[in-house]
Amino acid sequence: SRWWWVVPAAGQGRRMRADRPKQYLELDGRPVLAHTLERLHRAMPEAGLCLCLDADDRWFDPAWVPFADWRRVTGGSERVDSVANALAALAEEATDDDFVLVHDVARPCVWVEDLRRLAGVLVEEPAGALLATPVADTVKRDDGQGHVHATVPREGLWQALTPQGFRYRLLRDALALARSRGLAVTDEASAVEALGVSPRLVASRRDNLKITHPEDLALASHVLATQAA
Ligand code: C5P
Repeated sequence: SRWWWVVPAAGQGRRMRADRPKQYLELDGRPVLAHTLERLHRAMPEAGLCLCLDADDRWFDPAWVPFADWRRVTGGSERVDSVANALAALAEEATDDDFVLVHDVARPCVWVEDLRRLAGVLVEEPAGALLATPVADTVKRDDGQGHVHATVPREGLWQALTPQGFRYRLLRDALALARSRGLAVTDEASAVEALGVSPRLVASRRDNLKITHPEDLALASHVLATQAA
C-alpha cells in the first residue's frame, strides 16, 4: 500500500485578521506552509502529497513543496469539501488499502516522531487513528448568555489534533456519507465515527498547536525553537 499526505490549505484564516491566509504568514523567515510540508516530508519522504489550495490563491509558491510526487487540488467551501476533493483527485492512483493522512497546514509544530508513531499504529488499526491530547483544563458549557450552564467532566475528554489517518476507502466512504447527510464534520474522525467505526487515539506532544489567532505565531516560533534545542 502507498502512503498519501492530504493537506487542506484552502482556508482563509479570517480569525488571524492578517493581510493573507495564515498558511502564508512568516514563521521564522518562512511561510507556515513550508514548515508544515517539511515536517511531513521528513517523516515520510516517499509519500505522495495532495495539497488543497483555494482556486484564487495568489500566495502559493511550488518551491515550498519538498515532495517529489505531489499534486495541487482545488479546495472546497468547507474543510471537509477540500479533503473530499483531494480524495477524488486520488481516485485513479490510490487503492482502497492505501493510507491517507490528513494534516492541517496550520499545524507546523507537529513532532516528526509523533508522525512516525501514528503511521506505525495505522498499519495495525483498521479503524484508523488520530493524534490527540487529553483535555487539561476544566471545560464549561455556556448558557448562550455568557454565564456557565454546566461544567463538563473532563475525564476521558481529548482534543482531536491532526494528522488523522485512515485507509483510503474508509475515509472516502465516510466523507461521502457525512456530506450526503449534511453532518457538520470538523475532522475526518467524526465522519468515520458516523459509520460506527471508532478510530484509535494516539497521544500527541501537546505543542502540536494550530495557528488560529494572531498570538499563535509567536507561540509557534517559540515551540520551533525549543524543539530544535
Ligand atoms: O480554519 P481552520 O484552522 O479550522 O482550518 C483547518 C484547516 O482546513 C486549515 O489547514 C485550512 O487551510 C483548511 N481549510 C481548507 N478548506 C476550507 C477551509 C479550511 O482546506 N474551505
